[in-house]
Amino acid sequence: MEKLLANQVALITGASSGIGYGVAKALADAGAAVVLNYHSHSGPDEKLADEIEQAGGSAVAIQADVSDPAQVANLFDASRARFGGVDIVVANAGLQKDSPFADMTLHDWQLVLSTNLTGQFLTCQAAVKEFRRRGPTSVSKALGKIICMSSVHEVIPWAGHVNYAASKGGIQMFMKSLAQEVAPERIRVNSIAPGAIRTPINRDAWDSQAALDKLLRLIPYGRIGAVEDIGKAAVWLASDESDYVVGTTLFVDGGMTLYPGFSDNG
Ligand code: NAI
Ligand code: BGC
Repeated sequence: MEKLLANQVALITGASSGIGYGVAKALADAGAAVVLNYHSHSGPDEKLADEIEQAGGSAVAIQADVSDPAQVANLFDASRARFGGVDIVVANAGLQKDSPFADMTLHDWQLVLSTNLTGQFLTCQAAVKEFRRRGPTSVSKALGKIICMSSVHEVIPWAGHVNYAASKGGIQMFMKSLAQEVAPERIRVNSIAPGAIRTPINRDAWDSQAALDKLLRLIPYGRIGAVEDIGKAAVWLASDESDYVVGTTLFVDGGMTLYPGFSDNG
């Protein structure tokens, strides 16, 4: 049976860990050749690239800091050199630097904004230019597909995390404005907004039973998310199965955005 993403090339930023790693694996399983971007530690990316190649797929690991324009340009140049072009871009790289508001340093404010928001700006701008350069292909109805990794915190305020919530709130309008601008060229831009997914970014929220119990009170569906939940959503959003889905945020959150505090009459 033909795989959903056969003969397509997908580039995933921040693929050395967590959601990026899981999304890269899912896109490769769906038949895409994958470019695994890592920031500084090539180990997990190189290992995943080897596994994908041994399973008959195609993968390459490429270093780049997504907040640096020259490194993002190099990431796309190297992807083009390896695979001839890119069809799917997942702007996933992100981080948290949490602190009470009055104690938040300008450094931590700027680091989060420059990675989570400017990083997606640079990645998506390079993606749009690459789709235009390559032109239409027979592998997909769209000229290109972009998936922005947002968060439930694009809509849920988060005390103690104003830098992070501001970055994801920014992604909401960034994604929609970009989607509106490039849809006439048949470039589809959408977001995935994960709820709590078990990764290193939120280890404190799940690595003890007490923390997990507290977290589960925020999740009506009663379980923490797995990176595979996000991988499956990414495959669908990247494929022609979602060809009419444009400028949408797909919440994959076990109901976290359903105001669970009101479930017992508020
Ligand atoms: P993670 O910490 O496991 O992975 C983050 C990845 O981003 C790492 O591979 C890291 O090296 C990379 N990265 C950080 N700064 C970078 C830079 N300047 N250049 C290139 N890569 C960089 O965390 P996780 O959970 O996998 O996060 C991935 C994305 O998912 C982030 O955008 C995060 O905001 C988002 N997210 C995560 C949720 C969760 O519950 N785990 C929920 C909602 C959104
Ligand atoms: C954050 C996680 C958090 C989740 C749900 C994500 O955006 O990165 O730390 O567990 O939202 O609150």
